[in-house]
Formats: sequence, C-alpha cells, structure tokens
Amino acid sequence: MGMSVTISEAAEQDAEQILKLQYLCFQSEAALYGNYRIDPLVETLDALRHEVAAECVFVARLGDEVVGSVRGRVTEDGAADIGKLCVHPRLQGHGIGARLLGAVEAALAEEGQVTRFRLHTGRRSEGNLRLYRRVGYRTVGAFDAPDGVPMILLEKAAGTYVATA
Ligand SMILES: CC(C)(COP(=O)(O)OP(=O)(O)OC[C@H]1O[C@@H](n2cnc3c(N)ncnc32)[C@H](O)[C@@H]1OP(=O)(O)O)[C@@H](O)C(=O)NCCC(=O)NCCS
Repeated sequence: MGMSVTISEAAEQDAEQILKLQYLCFQSEAALYGNYRIDPLVETLDALRHEVAAECVFVARLGDEVVGSVRGRVTEDGAADIGKLCVHPRLQGHGIGARLLGAVEAALAEEGQVTRFRLHTGRRSEGNLRLYRRVGYRTVGAFDAPDGVPMILLEKAAGTYVATA
C-alpha cells in the first residue's frame, strides 16, 4: 500500500475530517437501504466534536489524511457500545477496519468494568456482518432503528481476542 496507515486516538481537530469521511463512507449503506437520513449522514459537526471530547474515538491516518474512524463508549450495564466504523472506499479490504475495531476494543477494555462489546449493523450489510463475526462477535438480537432500517445486534465478551488475518 506504499505509505503505512497508523491507528491512534482522535484529536479535537480531527472532527471535521472524520465527519467528511463518514459522510463519504456511509453513502453505500444509505444506497443499500434507500435511506439518506441514517445517523452518520445527519450528524452535526458539533455533535461529533462532543463525541471526540467525551468518547473513545480512533482514527486511521495515511500521512495527514484521516482514512478511517471508529467510536466507542462504556454504558451503565457494563457493555461498551462501538459504532460508526468506517474506512475510505479506496482503502477498504486491507484490514484497516479490523485494526480500528481492535484498537477501540483495547482502549475500552482499559476503562475497566467492561464485560462485553456491543455493536449493530443493518441486516442486509453482509460485508459488515462477516467482518464482525470474523473478529468474534455473535448475534444477540434484532431491532428496527427509529429510521426504519432493520438492524442486527452483535456482542463479544471483553477479553476475547481473535486473530484477524
Ligand atoms: C465496514 C468497513 C469499515 C470495513 O473496513 P475494511 O477496512 O474494508 O475492513 P477489513 O479490510 O478489515 O475487512 C474487509 C474485508 O477485507 C478482507 N481483508 C482484510 N485484510 C486483507 C488483506 N490484507 N488482503 C486481502 N483482503 C483483506 C477481509 O477478510 C474482509 O473480507 P470479507 O468482506 O470477504 O469478509 C468499510 O467497508 C466501510 O467503511 N463501510 C461503509 C460504512 C459501514 O457500513 N460501516 C459499518 C457500520 S456498522
């Protein structure tokens, strides 16, 4: 891939690049569900800035460019919610998504009290489901998002480390 991609915690000044990236990356999900009002496409810069400050946000960088991101936060029930995983379309399929997931899981586990990781994706997002299952997530439920998109809920016990390559 030439220059190497590095994973690190996001800084406040990355918010704008993360928002642009998620807008680009989630177009394929919007098209799949015929819904261009899904969460990642309607999030405001202010909301994202708040998340970068308050949550566990990681970015993948290629030089100065943010080419991937993921977010997570610990909830009251001991689960950590992970979401908005995205990788620039031109760099997908090289393991960056799996690396981002591993980084946010490790950071969340260090916050203590975390018994399991939880995430969700659209029922028809087969590539996403394959990636999550490959790194150890199992389906625990299904629900319809407020915007009507049918979702699958997946969980993985904290401390379950699965080789990704
Ligand atoms: C989901 C997403 C983040 C995955 O990112 P990614 O960097 O492509 O993920 P990975 O490279 O780790 O895995 C994707 C595929 O590449 C394969 N892969 C990983 N490393 C590889 C390598 N070195 N060589 C060849 N293939 C490789 C994986 O096996 C996987 O294959 P599969 O689809 O057949 O299961 C990305 O597709 C994306 O941004 N999608 C749009 C937004 C979205 O839907 N996000 C999820 C919301 S729940």
